[in-house]
Amino acid sequence: MTEHDIEQLISRMTLAEKLGQMTQVQPHGRDQEERVRQGGAGSLINVVGDDAYHYQWLAVEHSRLGIPLLLGRDVIHGFQTVFPIPLGQAAAFDPERVRQAAAHSAREAGAAGVNWTFSPMLDVARDPRWGRIAESFGEDPLLISRLGVAMVQGYQQEGVAACAKHFVGYGAAEGGRDYSATDLAPRALLDTYLPPFLAAQQAGVMTVMSAFNDLDGVPATGHEDLIRGTLKNRWGFDGLVVSDWCSVTEMIAHGFCEDAAAAARAGVSAGVDMEMASTSYLDHIAGLIEQGLLDIALVDDAVRRILRIKARLGLFQHPYGDPGRTQPQRPVATQLARSLARDSCVLLKNEQGLPLGEHARRVAVIGPMADAPGEQLGCWVFDGERQHSQTVFAALQERLGAQRVVHARGLEHCRSHDLDGLEAAVALARSAEVVVLCLGEDAGLSGEAHCRAHLDLPGAQQTLLEAVAATGVPVVLVIMAGRPLVLGPVLPHAQAVLYAWHPGSQGGPAIVDLLCGESPSGRLPVSFPRSVGQIPIFYNHKNTGRPPHPDAPSIPSGTPLDPSGFFAAYLDEDHRPLFPFGFGLGYTRFEYRDLQLSASQLTPGGTLCASVLLSNAGHRSATEVVQLYVRDLVGSVTRPVRELKDFQRISLQPGESQRVSFELHTDALRFHDRHLRQVCESGRFELWIGPDSASGPSAVFELMASQA
Ligand code: GLC
Repeated sequence: MTEHDIEQLISRMTLAEKLGQMTQVQPHGRDQEERVRQGGAGSLINVVGDDAYHYQWLAVEHSRLGIPLLLGRDVIHGFQTVFPIPLGQAAAFDPERVRQAAAHSAREAGAAGVNWTFSPMLDVARDPRWGRIAESFGEDPLLISRLGVAMVQGYQQEGVAACAKHFVGYGAAEGGRDYSATDLAPRALLDTYLPPFLAAQQAGVMTVMSAFNDLDGVPATGHEDLIRGTLKNRWGFDGLVVSDWCSVTEMIAHGFCEDAAAAARAGVSAGVDMEMASTSYLDHIAGLIEQGLLDIALVDDAVRRILRIKARLGLFQHPYGDPGRTQPQRPVATQLARSLARDSCVLLKNEQGLPLGEHARRVAVIGPMADAPGEQLGCWVFDGERQHSQTVFAALQERLGAQRVVHARGLEHCRSHDLDGLEAAVALARSAEVVVLCLGEDAGLSGEAHCRAHLDLPGAQQTLLEAVAATGVPVVLVIMAGRPLVLGPVLPHAQAVLYAWHPGSQGGPAIVDLLCGESPSGRLPVSFPRSVGQIPIFYNHKNTGRPPHPDAPSIPSGTPLDPSGFFAAYLDEDHRPLFPFGFGLGYTRFEYRDLQLSASQLTPGGTLCASVLLSNAGHRSATEVVQLYVRDLVGSVTRPVRELKDFQRISLQPGESQRVSFELHTDALRFHDRHLRQVCESGRFELWIGPDSASGPSAVFELMASQA
């Protein structure tokens, strides 16, 4: 179907049919069937399986123009097979496997009639109080961009439209409270929050979703400058923009629109082509046009974009899915889910705790997350198959033999304060040589509208941890959660701490692979705060005029400090995160030596090669995520103290060394100056190649002024 065909079709459409295309509703029985027959919906949400095919059949065979439906679903980190939550996938620093996981998810969803997923979420997330940090790829724009592009490619290669969301700034909600106002300076938008969406647009993402939040006084869903101005006109995005759930009519609650008619006008004018869940477009646009308050050309542009995406998906030829499409291969998906979950786990502490001794005769698996197949899947798993979700307890029994592995919950669920099960759990711990304690957040504490003001272990889990630790039996702590938790009170009570996020269907086998000897390789995609009081805390911050000394001694929480220091720091807490972005341990020691630059000076448009000699100085094979950071030491505006510019996963055998090289093009040094022009300024840069955002050898190079 060509653009000409689309124009032809638009010319045949009534205004009612056009407004129908601009409407996405959730089906509720027969009235929705009639609506579809009348061409009153261009898309349905949350319809899968036989219902999906039924509604598609109604649209294609029984509406006047036979325009197929977009059938949308939140396929966020899997469909029947559930992969780790996006924050966990981000910890693997592996775009290729994120692409593969998205492709598998699209095959499974496509086979159930879904042709549009509301994923990837590209929101920069610097606040672990925000429940939706679980759905994000963390705090760094480059990592988010790389993984977002990979997800878009994975979905769309399998014939499912991806959706870059939530445009824009949603993750910067005040207080980490979902849906709350955001107050982002233009340069923060341009250099931090918009780049992942630009990357997705350049990768050909078919749809974008507008956000709920108020952006400096203008609701994102009514933000004409950003949607029509930046996304559509400046960047050239030619797909469709869908609102978030009722975010058009919520502009009334925002106090931005008087009523639904005004909200419809604001949404269409801003460039929101399709309204999700509410029906103000359907109800009011005809009247707005009649009153001369809305130009029909804007409606036609919206309809054109919607038909264009349906055409790009091939829905006019294959409304029920392309028969030549690759069918889901479950064993492959399962293997990938295990591999990705394994490499998403981050080892935060290990003092002789891991790996489990080969001859551990009796292992006690304890905790509310030890055998919780549904909870370990995490948020947004409408279609996840709990019956195929494998837990740590089951996987460890399978691995070591049932006679060597015993289990007690200790607490019925993560939020429980009922200690009736504590005594039995402690007794079981006492009978074992080692305890694998699985704690964290149940899935319901994570995701949309599930924000937390306190980031400690929920319920009586700290009590359970301390009681088990008091037995003196070594504790390997596995934490499954949808966000960074405050781990200061936790760390002293465990010999090893493995952070598994919500690891998905194969979380159990993946974690057991690591407990039994495969070296963890996950790295933190988000900073871990020492306390909630530090939030927001992120690595790519500004230096300030009074930076604390970078090597200031780590200050134990609560130590009364000499208030004589006048620095950007606290009196009662260390200013640094407990664990920095990029951090993660393994079962070996990597050494970084001999950092080399191909030149000490660079000219605009040029490329610098930076390399380091990486060695596995330990006794186990392992994978390292080698990270490249730069700092623009002086700019026409202040610049972050470090910015991730590239990363590579490198696997080395014990004793093996490899020179790891990166190419840094001057385009990677661009930013927006005080006039909001994108520039690449001459001057000195510091460059690091290291294991995380707080360490590694560095060198300085100079970007020369352009000759012109
Ligand atoms: C929700 C979310 C959005 C999701 C949509 C459809 O409110 O904000 O991310 O895709 O509604 O479920």
